[in-house]
Amino acid sequence: MILENIKIDNKVDNSPEEIIKNISKLEWKDGLYGKQSWGHSLHKIAPYVGRIKPPFAHFLIKYVTKPGDTILDPFCGIGTIPLEGSLCGRNTIGVDLNPYAITISEAKTQHNLILEDLIDYVENLDIISKGVSIRKIPDWVKEYYNKNTLKEILYTLNILKADEQKFIYGCLVGISQGHRPGHLSKPCAWTLPYKPRPDDPGEYRDVKTRLIAKIKRNYKDKIESSGSIKILKEDSRKLSLENESVDHIISSPPYYNTLDYVNSHRLRLAICGVYKEDDKKALRDQTIQRYKDYLDEMRKVIVELYRVLKPGGYCVFVVGDHFKGKLVINTSEELAVLFKEVGFTYYGAVEDPIPVNKSVQKTTKKVKFERIMLLQK
Ligand SMILES: C[S@@+](CC[C@H](N)C(=O)[O-])C[C@H]1O[C@@H](n2cnc3c(N)ncnc32)[C@H](O)[C@@H]1O
Repeated sequence: MILENIKIDNKVDNSPEEIIKNISKLEWKDGLYGKQSWGHSLHKIAPYVGRIKPPFAHFLIKYVTKPGDTILDPFCGIGTIPLEGSLCGRNTIGVDLNPYAITISEAKTQHNLILEDLIDYVENLDIISKGVSIRKIPDWVKEYYNKNTLKEILYTLNILKADEQKFIYGCLVGISQGHRPGHLSKPCAWTLPYKPRPDDPGEYRDVKTRLIAKIKRNYKDKIESSGSIKILKEDSRKLSLENESVDHIISSPPYYNTLDYVNSHRLRLAICGVYKEDDKKALRDQTIQRYKDYLDEMRKVIVELYRVLKPGGYCVFVVGDHFKGKLVINTSEELAVLFKEVGFTYYGAVEDPIPVNKSVQKTTKKVKFERIMLLQK
């Protein structure tokens, strides 16, 4: 990772015209920024369906905000915008309600620890599997693991939780699923938990050595300076933040039922303790992703965003189009109506075409554009 690319620019001309002009350059697609590998190693703790790419977050932050500003991401997922904002010297607040997303976001808040201390801590852990009960864990989860490995994972997570070792906890959840030798499950995809081969007996994979290797991978890039990161597990329709307490908002919200944030992450959610059908249903009900009430629910969010944003503050929303039968619906146009009703000024949306073969979930409902909406209170 080339940290020299993170230039902190103190003289930001963030007039709406300048922001639109700068964003339209789509710089995150070019050269080094366009490479999958671009970004601080902490961005790579774990995957997330619908994650915004770190260089994309980087340029939005750079063009819209200045160092020292407070940025809110009301749908922060695994904390890409809060982390990148912090690396660029902004203070950031991330909100989400998915426990897996919150786990990884919180891991990124512990970015100022000492690597040697983290390694020492794990080396001194007495990780056991004997006596650990996995009776309550559903069979579909057990299918992914060697029994002793699963016991070690659950035992270690308990200790890490009690010790508030959020970074190490996130690393362990990160390696709990995947296809590489450093992962703990039977070989299965790193993002979506496709079932492992039924005839795979599942070799024992020890937690300690893999966890230490993982920590080293994710803590390898230095951090020169950083702003604070706060992560809140709450509903964006009812924020606990004070009125006019944030300078700017940057977010990639859910749009219609394009992605399923609960089912797509079911294995890592189970590892984080959300495996009962009732719990998953409650989370699904709270997550804005249903088609039928999408705009009604987003209106509630927009009212809250207006309340917490300082006058003159910007709101940048990255949304994709969605499909109704054969009809392509421009989500940004629908949301713009709501934003204007609530009191925001809308300056328009910059189009960012997405190559079809890169869409995460290959259904017939393919996203063709992301649109970057610019609004101001
Ligand atoms: C497109 S994803 C955001 C991804 C994020 N930018 C990242 O890079 O990881 C949308 C997020 O909105 C969250 N979400 C949906 N409804 C929510 C609500 N009512 N309150 C808070 N978060 C919500 C989902 O859990 C999901 O993580």
